This record gives sequence, C-alpha cells and structure tokens, in this order.
Amino acid sequence: MLLDNLKESAAYIKSITGDIKFDIAMVLGSGLGDMAETLGEVIYIPYSEIPHFPVSTVPGHKGRLAIGLLEGKRVVCMQGRFHYYEGWTMQQCVYPIQVFKMLGINNLMLTNAAGCVNTAWQPGDLMVINDHIKVMGDSPMRGANCDELGPRFFDMSHVYEKELQKVAHSAAAKLGFSLRDGVYMLFGGPQFETPAEVRMARLLGADAVGMSTVPEAISASQMSMKVLGISCLTNMGAGILDQPLNHEEVLETGEKVKSRFQALVREIVSTWPL
Ligand code: 6GU
Repeated sequence: MLLDNLKESAAYIKSITGDIKFDIAMVLGSGLGDMAETLGEVIYIPYSEIPHFPVSTVPGHKGRLAIGLLEGKRVVCMQGRFHYYEGWTMQQCVYPIQVFKMLGINNLMLTNAAGCVNTAWQPGDLMVINDHIKVMGDSPMRGANCDELGPRFFDMSHVYEKELQKVAHSAAAKLGFSLRDGVYMLFGGPQFETPAEVRMARLLGADAVGMSTVPEAISASQMSMKVLGISCLTNMGAGILDQPLNHEEVLETGEKVKSRFQALVREIVSTWPL
C-alpha cells in the first residue's frame, strides 16, 4: 500500500539524517542540478538505496537526494527528477514529493527548463509559474486515493503560492534583474511540440511549454504544500523562429543562465518565509 511504502522510504531517510526538521524540498531541473553540490554539511542518499523509490536507468543521471544547508535553511534537493517521458507513471513521478510530505516538509520549490511560447519574451528569461495547464488525460492522483495524504477531490485555485511568487520577484529585484510571470503547459514529450501545438498552447493561454513540474505541483497541492515554480526559458517553441529545436540549445542556454538562476534560487531560499 502506498502509505506503508512512503513511511518506509521516509524512515530510511531519517535513519541516515536523524530526526531533523527539513525546511524546503527542491527539485532542481536541467542546469541547476549541480547546485546540490554546494550545500553545507551535505549528505547524499542515492535513490537506489531508498526503499520503494523509483530508480532512473538513464546514464549520467545522478539520481540522488542531496540533504544539507542552503542559506541557513535545511533543504532536501532532488538531483535528478522522474519524467513521464522516461516511462514512469505520473504516480511514480510524484512519489518523492509524497515522501517529502511524510518527512514533514510543507515547502516545495520546483524548477525546470521550458520552451517559450510567448513571442514577446526571449530565451534566457526566467519565469515565475503563476498557474499551469494540463490537457494530458493522465493525473498523478488517478487511481485509489490515499486519504491520509489528502482528499480525493481538491481545489487547484492556488497551486502556486502567491506570497512565494512575491518572494521570487523581490529576490530577482535585489539581484538586479526581473522575472516573467506566466502559465506553464505540460506536454508529455520527449519530442518537442510541433509549430501547430505551440500555436495551440499560446491560444490556450500558455507562456511556456515543458515536460515536468505539473505532476509534482498537483501532488503537492493535494497535500497542501506551498509551491513555488520557476522555469528557465531555454529556447523559443517550435515555429516561432526560423530554426529547428535541439537539446543542445536547451543545455547551452541553461549553462549561460545558470549563475543567474542559482543566485536567484539562493536569494529565494534565504528569504523564504517559514
Ligand atoms: Cl520547446 N518543449 C518542451 N515540452 N519542453 C522543453 C522545451 C520545449 N524546451 C525546453 N524544454
């Protein structure tokens, strides 16, 4: 049963860390993963050691929790997340988030690399996620509900916490730049969208398209966790510029923006209200 598994996963993590209080859980997307290596008093726990945790088989995938201090806060970072396109079910994709809740964590920062569909914006812009769109039929909450985690039917009016969005904007302002505000739309991937799909996304009100984050945000929402989501817009969506998309461009922009993105994450964590 899910709850028993979650308890065993959490108990294993606590057997290593001791019964400490964790402040914020963080999922570090493309380009931010190595931030986990800058934590103070860092402890790594490979996913493969945690009972019931999904384990990625993708080569070069770090696949571990990094637990330590960041700007005075106790954080648990996922170094490597689970994507639907890898073949995981959405339930598996959110398993770590549910473990975080079992550890008593109520604050979650989600980051990702995303394609930009807002034609007034540029690659390299960072976007605070205000809301999301999921038209894929699947849901991480599909199937039997675990009532101990949250209700079967739950409100999605405030998935991304307003106060945390303000914290993010203030953090950026302090660092001398500004953030976009927008709607993130989930696609299953792994292929990028067609130009027609990008036009559809824009027509539906999306500013960015991506392949992650939404399942985690839904699960966190069910469990009443406070969520902040930030996208690094690494490239324009297909059909906007007269050039094909490639993963190298995503990595390249991610690399260029990395220091700004990391500074932002640090400032946000430092001023995160607990
Ligand atoms: Cl253009 N689409 C999706 N779905 N994910 C992305 C992306 C585009 N660029 C980076 N990640």
